[in-house]
Amino acid sequence: TEYTSIVTDVQNRVGYITLNRPEALNALNSELLTELVEVALRFDADTEIGAIVITGSERAFAAGADIKQMAELGFSDMYLGGPFPGWQGFERMRTPVIAAVAGFALGGGCELAMMCDIIIAADTAKFGQPEINLGVIPGFGGSQRLPRAIGKAKAAEMVLTGRMIGAEEAERSGLVSRVVPAADLLDEARKTAETIASKSLLAVYAAKDALQAAQEMPLSEGLRFERHAFAAAFATEDQKEGMRAFAEKREPHFKNR
Ligand code: HXC
Repeated sequence: TEYTSIVTDVQNRVGYITLNRPEALNALNSELLTELVEVALRFDADTEIGAIVITGSERAFAAGADIKQMAELGFSDMYLGGPFPGWQGFERMRTPVIAAVAGFALGGGCELAMMCDIIIAADTAKFGQPEINLGVIPGFGGSQRLPRAIGKAKAAEMVLTGRMIGAEEAERSGLVSRVVPAADLLDEARKTAETIASKSLLAVYAAKDALQAAQEMPLSEGLRFERHAFAAAFATEDQKEGMRAFAEKREPHFKNR
């Protein structure tokens, strides 16, 4: 399928989505978001795909939701889903998603990156929630995910002042897992994604579920969740294969069974 605002590819069990609206620094308009969510959910449903990479351009991962598209809308437009219906589907995906961020990740762009499981940043990356400058607040989860990611103090400063942080500060604060030279960004994201895609999908889904539970549940409930998910892994052939392969000093061959 040909898309207008994204480019897609599948290689070595990894699905790639490149945001491609260079004239607007990949601002997320209805068309881009619809295409993004449609492809992401299709990748997610495909068990031949074990990881997804989302990236933008050198200049921008995404400079936010499309301000020009939102400018004249009202409460009911936005509350009813408005120009951005369906993006919550993105948060329910089971396949790990890596955001490979170079340049601006602002507003909805920063929030999209935070919906992903791992953010790898180029040294050129800039993260921010500048909505306050537009008379609004984050709307794709930023007011919730940013404090969980980097703590209340820094999140409050970013959301209340609109200050951007660079890649180094983002790594120091725990927003991104790694900073790499811009020229290596896609290669590093690809390696990380292919590593994940080489594991048992059953274990990967369970691990992602448990990590997400950690974001949402009190410790005692999260630990209970983990206890069950851990024990459930012992119902899989892949657990037998993984542990036997270790004992036999060979590589495991996972079958997602
Ligand atoms: C629409 C955008 C855009 C955006 C950039 N552009 N960001 N269009 N929505 N979010 C367009 C510009 O209008 C311009 O178009 C072109 O992209 C290049 O941008 P410039 O501003 O000329 O580039 P530069 O001077 O390098 O500045 C880069 C920038 C700036 C600092 C990133 O573009 C900027 O501040 N953008 C807005 C960032 C922002 O406020 N994001 C939050 C959006 S609100 P033309 O046609 O003039 O060349 C949000 C809410 C999410 O995300 C929740 C929704 C539910």
